This record gives sequence, C-alpha cells and structure tokens, in this order.
Amino acid sequence: MSNPLFDFGMIGLGVMGRNFLLNMADHGFSVVGLDKDNQKALSLEKEATKGTIVKGVTNAGDFINALKKPRSIMMLVPAGKPVDAVIEEFLPLLDKGDILIDGGNSHYTDTVKRIRYLEEKGIHFMGMGVSGGEKGARFGPSIMPGGDQDAWRTVQPMLEAVSAKVNGSPCVAYLGKDAAGHYVKMVHNGIEYAIMQLISETYMLMHRGLGLNNDQLHGVFKKWNEGNLQSYLIEITRDIFMQQDDKTNNRLVDMILDEAGAKGTGMWTSQDAMSLHYPIPLIDIAVSMRDLSVYKEERTRAEGIYGNPYQNLPVDKEAFIAQLHDALYFAVINCYAQGLGMIQKGSAALGMDIPLSEVVRIWRGGCIIRSVLLDKFFVIYSKTKDMPNILLSEFVSKELQGNVRQIRAVIVASINAGYPVPGLSASLNYFDSYRRKHLPVNLLQAQRDYFGSHTYQRIDEPGIFHTEWKENNE
Ligand code: 6PG
Repeated sequence: MSNPLFDFGMIGLGVMGRNFLLNMADHGFSVVGLDKDNQKALSLEKEATKGTIVKGVTNAGDFINALKKPRSIMMLVPAGKPVDAVIEEFLPLLDKGDILIDGGNSHYTDTVKRIRYLEEKGIHFMGMGVSGGEKGARFGPSIMPGGDQDAWRTVQPMLEAVSAKVNGSPCVAYLGKDAAGHYVKMVHNGIEYAIMQLISETYMLMHRGLGLNNDQLHGVFKKWNEGNLQSYLIEITRDIFMQQDDKTNNRLVDMILDEAGAKGTGMWTSQDAMSLHYPIPLIDIAVSMRDLSVYKEERTRAEGIYGNPYQNLPVDKEAFIAQLHDALYFAVINCYAQGLGMIQKGSAALGMDIPLSEVVRIWRGGCIIRSVLLDKFFVIYSKTKDMPNILLSEFVSKELQGNVRQIRAVIVASINAGYPVPGLSASLNYFDSYRRKHLPVNLLQAQRDYFGSHTYQRIDEPGIFHTEWKENNE
C-alpha cells in the first residue's frame, strides 16, 4: 500500500463501524478500516460488495499511510476512555489539516474538550451523532455532525452519499458549532427513551389489562403504523410480537427479563436538562423507569406485600384501544416538544447555533425516532425559526386539543385499575402545566421566604421583596 488510495478511514470495525464503511464503499468511495482484531479486519473485505474498494488493516501505520491527504478518519469506538486512547495513539501519526470524526455516542462536554485539545495541534475534530442502529449504518443512517465548518465541507459529499434520504433529501446537515452534533444526538436518545417508555405502557395496558395476545398486539401496532403514529419504533414493536423464541415454543418477547439496560445517553439528557433548568419530565421519567425496572427482586417482594395489582381494565376493548392510540399520539408529540425545546435552550446557552428545522429534517429518515410527525414539524420550523416550544404552533395545538380527552380517559382508567402509566401521566401533566398561566408556585415562593428569607417578586410592582412572616398567624 505505498500509494495513498483511500478516501476515508474507519477506526473500530465493530458492527456499526464496519457497516458504515461498507455503506461508504457502496457509494463509490475507497475505504480502509482499522481494527486490532485480525479477524474483524480480514472479514471486512469479504463482506464488501463486489467491485467496491475496501481494505482491512490491523496496523495503525498502514492505515494512516493508506489515506489520501488531508485524511478523513472516523472512529466508532465505545464512548469515554477508548476515544481518548485512540486520539493519543493517532496524534503522532496525523498531519495538520487532517480530520478526525468521533461517530460514537460521546458526551458532548468531552467532545468540546477534545475539539479544543486537537485544535491546538492543527487537527480538525468533529463530534458526530449517527443513528439508525446496525441496518441504518449499512444502508442509510441519520447523521448529526457539528463543529469545524471547513472539516464539514470536506466530508459533506461523503456523508450525504451514505445517509438516509427522505424525498431525495439527505438525512445529514451541519448542526452547529463545537459539540452541536453530539448534543443533538444526546437529546435524540432522550426522546428515544421517552417514546419507548410510552410504547411499553400501551403494551402493558393492552396485554395485561385487556388480555391481548401477541398476535393481537401485532395487529394493533400494524394498524397504528398505518396512521399518524407511523414511525420506526412502532414498526419494530409490531414485528417484535411475531418473533418466535428458538429455545421454547413461546414468542421471544415473553421470554425476555423485564430489566432494562441503558448505556447512559438518556440519563445525560436528563442531567443536562436539569443543569439548564429546562423541563423534560417525559424523558426524566423514562430514565427513572428503566432504573426502577432493574430492582426486580425488590419489586417481586413488594408484589408479595401489596398484592398483584393487575386486573382486567373494565372498559370496552375496541373503544379503549382507539383511545390508547390517541393518548400515545398526544404523548409522543410531547416527547418531541420537550426534546426540541431543550435543544433550542441548550444551543442558546452554549452558543452552538443549532438550526432546529435541520434537526427535524434529518430526523425524518434513518434514525430511531423517525416518524411521519416530523414531516409536519419540519414545515413548522422551516417557517418559524424562533418558536420556543412547538406546543405553541397551530398544528400541534389542534392535535393536542383533539386528543386530550382520550389521554385523560386512558390515564383515569389505568390508574383506577392500578396500572402504572408514568410516561402518559407525565405527558398530560406537562401539558396541563405548560398551558396554564397560573401555577401554584406563589405559595412555594412564600414558603421559601418564610423559612429562608429567599425573597419573592410581586405581581403588582417590580422588585425583590422579603417579609417577616408571622408565626402561628391565626
Ligand atoms: C441510535 C441509538 C443508538 C443506541 C442507543 C441505545 O440512535 O441508533 O440511539 O445510539 O442504540 O445508544 O441506548 P441504550 O443502550 O442506552 O438504550
């Protein structure tokens, strides 16, 4: 490999890395992949489409020398220390002007530090979210880059070629300064957590409350995926109910332990929202419910003490399923609203200039939270750039008002029968709080001032006030 031949290099040939690279080769780019695991490097070439230019190597020097200059290199390695280890290993081998892209789910604050660190050494470092799982990486992910604009312009044609397309428009866009790409990906995942929580609540209500079997659940989600809930997460849920377990005669979903895993991106979203003082209660509750699920042994003991709360929902089955559809639609709108509102707030706080219309546009295809709803949001944000919350738009207000009665009915019936619906409830409570001019925190302010002289503002004159509150004031 004495002549540098290759357009693009990938460090880390796990499933995501190799699929992304093979996708790139299918679009006519010559690619080289590096992995210390000989097997992974060798099999890359075997998996490549005939006629494409793909090389797998195990040696960092060979990798670097194979790439055209300035080099475009992406890494897809686990977030955290492995990213820093790759940077340190490659730094002596890189030349000024080379581009290094972190395509993993790194925390955006780490990305900011890495950008600054590498800037000093003349290396363009970009944080880039990639969504769509294994298949997305292979056949068209949604790609969320941010950072150095010159670096973006260099890799733009390649990323546009490999990304998912919606009506011919590539699901990739420059999302803003610094770690904008990783910030958007973090919130994407927070929304992902919230929608998954909501779908699982509807599953519980239909399965345990209405007694629907997996075939029937498949049928419901199939129908739901044909209307305004059409989305990737509804589509895969539909399919999951039909998957047979290969160890038993059961459906696989019934054999899976009810303890959720999490790699942390949902938690980061909640942590960051708390620091920003931006409310995203649907995402918060989704993170908490994953955490609660892990206490299986305690939950089992508690069920022994308090009894099995499951009982048939005393409702008309068909009518309830129709209400549930509308309730889910209502709640999903709120997930996006909270996430998008947070991106707007975070972007302003961190000076990232994230264009919301572009975020929504590139989420319409390839990513885990893609849905037909985002087509409507794209139109809204294209027209109104500075809307603080999509709940204030005409379209969303009509949709929420048209479905609020149904979500109330679902929540009341579920709570009366002892079914936990924390996501659906958080969505309705958020809505009922957000659309209310008066909240009861005047009392809370009085309490703060009472016990801690924390002061308050008045409704009738500007300024900061404190009162010496009378004790036992009867
Ligand atoms: C995506 C996914 C992807 C990954 C999640 C899973 O957009 O393709 O979000 O990034 O599947 O990180 O996250 P948890 O393991 O935390 O559920």
